[in-house]
Amino acid sequence: MEILVSPDPDRTAERAAEAVLSGLARTHSGDPVLGLATGSSPLGLYRALGRAVDAGRADFGTTHGVALDEYVGLPPGHPEGYRQVLLREVCGVIGLAPERLEVPDGSAAGSAALEAAAAAYEARIAELGGVDVQVLGIGANGHLGFNEPGSALTSRTRVKRLSARTRRDNARFFTGLDDVPTHCLTQGLGTILEARRLVLVATGDGKADAVAAAIEGPLTASVPASVLQWHADTVVCLDEAAAAGLRNRQYYDDSAAGLPEG
Ligand code: F6R
Repeated sequence: MEILVSPDPDRTAERAAEAVLSGLARTHSGDPVLGLATGSSPLGLYRALGRAVDAGRADFGTTHGVALDEYVGLPPGHPEGYRQVLLREVCGVIGLAPERLEVPDGSAAGSAALEAAAAAYEARIAELGGVDVQVLGIGANGHLGFNEPGSALTSRTRVKRLSARTRRDNARFFTGLDDVPTHCLTQGLGTILEARRLVLVATGDGKADAVAAAIEGPLTASVPASVLQWHADTVVCLDEAAAAGLRNRQYYDDSAAGLPEG
């Protein structure tokens, strides 16, 4: 794991954007595939990618975007449904074509239809040749995607119940807690692990405990984000507040400084 700690959220976003661009530059032979998280954490990263496009350093014209997850049961077009969120906060910002955005079909009704939607999503990712770079945030309870504590480390895209903590945390996007869906479709931890590079962004002291548990604690389903330890190309971009619980901080800073001159 590469652990990059920056003084503030803006610099964190810039470094995460560089990690995304360098990962995409090594793409497999097909069109690039960028895995997209929603929530607050990656917004600065998406804006930094937008600035790279404006500066002529990046172009997402042929890129496919693949969402991590989607709520179940929101009416189509709901502004907090992740398709709408990604259209606004990614497609509109980095120039990703809306028809190249893949989101699990959370409008499927009933468990058989949702299972079929999950299987179709896995098949679509495979058809695209897999995800080159997956952008991730982390829940305060250590979730990754919507893989809540207790999720199998090898899990695939499926329906998950959202934890009470996650529903409370996400109530800020809705008119109230009662409006937050109870279920979602999420890529599994096994699905996420197949992306060629993982880029996690976390800022703020509310994430410090989850970050420390994920990076320096045991690999355990109780902290789903600890599965990052299993991936050979993970870049973790933190600000000082989110890094506050790390014990091996000096080593990460020394490693990030690179090889000595000469
Ligand atoms: C979003 C997602 C979640 C969020 C996490 C952090 O697609 O899958 O894992 O990344 O809940 O959310 P924020 O960034 O809003 O704190």
